[in-house]
Amino acid sequence: AQRKQIDAVLAPFLLSLETLRDVMNKMRTELEYGLKRETQDRATVKMLPTYVCGTPDGTEKGKYLALDLGGTNFRVLLVKIRSGRRRSVRMYNKIFAIPLEIMQGTGEELFDHIVQCIADFLEYMGIKGARLPLGFTFSFPCRQASIDKGTLVGWTKGFKATDCEGEDVVDMLREAIRRRNFDLDIVAVVNDTVGTMMTCGYEDPNCEIGLIAGTGSNVCYMEDMKNIEIVEGNEGKMCINTEWGGFGDNGCIDNIRTKYDKEVDEGSLNAGKQRYEKMTSGMYLGEIVRQILIDLTKQGLLFRGQISESLRKRGIFETKFLSQIESDRLALLQVRRILQQLGLDSTCEDSIIVKEVCGAVSRRAAQLCGAGLAAIVEKKRENRGVEHLQITVGVDGTLYKLHPHFSRVLQETVRELAPRCDVTFMLSEDGSGKGAALITAVAKRLHNVGQ
Ligand code: BG6
Ligand code: GLC
Repeated sequence: AQRKQIDAVLAPFLLSLETLRDVMNKMRTELEYGLKRETQDRATVKMLPTYVCGTPDGTEKGKYLALDLGGTNFRVLLVKIRSGRRRSVRMYNKIFAIPLEIMQGTGEELFDHIVQCIADFLEYMGIKGARLPLGFTFSFPCRQASIDKGTLVGWTKGFKATDCEGEDVVDMLREAIRRRNFDLDIVAVVNDTVGTMMTCGYEDPNCEIGLIAGTGSNVCYMEDMKNIEIVEGNEGKMCINTEWGGFGDNGCIDNIRTKYDKEVDEGSLNAGKQRYEKMTSGMYLGEIVRQILIDLTKQGLLFRGQISESLRKRGIFETKFLSQIESDRLALLQVRRILQQLGLDSTCEDSIIVKEVCGAVSRRAAQLCGAGLAAIVEKKRENRGVEHLQITVGVDGTLYKLHPHFSRVLQETVRELAPRCDVTFMLSEDGSGKGAALITAVAKRLHNVGQ
């Protein structure tokens, strides 16, 4: 009887191939909506133009600063690029903390803090006073009118600083720099997906898609200009930041959302928004698990029916714990030890159930992400008008990198749903800061030529 009850709770997390195909088709519809002038206003997948029109060609060179804000870590980097036959990229970076009260304080405090970190970094590197061109990886949706302008559409993930939405983040950064009386040349603002695609594109010119499966979930890809109605011109390509995390915000995937997904959404900083992201990314998977565990405990199936203080705490299951619990190399005793660390006293049976719950939630996440990616590669294949497409996807994010099964299930799903696409997944080892620096180098070169 106990088994039946657990199966019933986990059943909605098992998605058939047919359901996944339906998700892929719906994603495709939303991608098209976002590209068309007429439907763009109500599109949940925003399809934001990035003004990045090509991948690096090896002629980039110089010294650049890069900021990387919005993932697990905030980083400031110095990137040295050499061109020609001995082309290479050297990077120096430092990680800085962003305290919660700054993530959710005022915009001015947030940007002052960022500039303080840049100042510390320059001092640390011994290059105070150098006026280097800067590329800003800002991993949130921005409406851009050029490479160095980006209006924040809305915060996502764990950020909620006031007075930023609707404002230009480059202006805000410039003002904060002015407040500290120093000078930096901000040349480009870049989404992390775009930075990741560029980082990988430096090694593999066939890389025309960037995927993040980390704290948040998002994809960018090179789209034909003639398909982007909202930008003038028909020649060449431009990178589109899809912001696919918002997929489903019109209710189109409510048929697969469970009551646990709804609880996670309601308890989040942006209720009703980023519904697909909340089913697929690291920031939320642990929360879904926690909601299921609470329910199983209430039904008397776990933890002797006792909901402990710890289980009530939001955010206890970080991605790294899920990854550890699901590792096949771990004995159950070790799973119990992890649960113990989290303040959850478990029996051997409890630990088996917890592992099963984690598995169901992360597998669904990987499959949903795969269904989305299948829609993108199929679109690319049709754009090119080929029977078979060979393409590389640059990937980053802690969920993809740390989780023992996520990447495999994701890849299997893409293979199954888009059999005519031969997709190579390339892990970004250098984060997205390198890509931001490369984009900055290209922008700087084009700008100088124009002058
Ligand atoms: C990093 C990139 O490696 O991965 C960031 O440099 C990106 O730009 C991040 O945001 C995404 O992963 P996570 O798991 O840190 O959100
Ligand atoms: C969120 C952000 C998006 C970013 C993604 C991955 O979805 O809105 O801009 O790319 O997280 O970090």
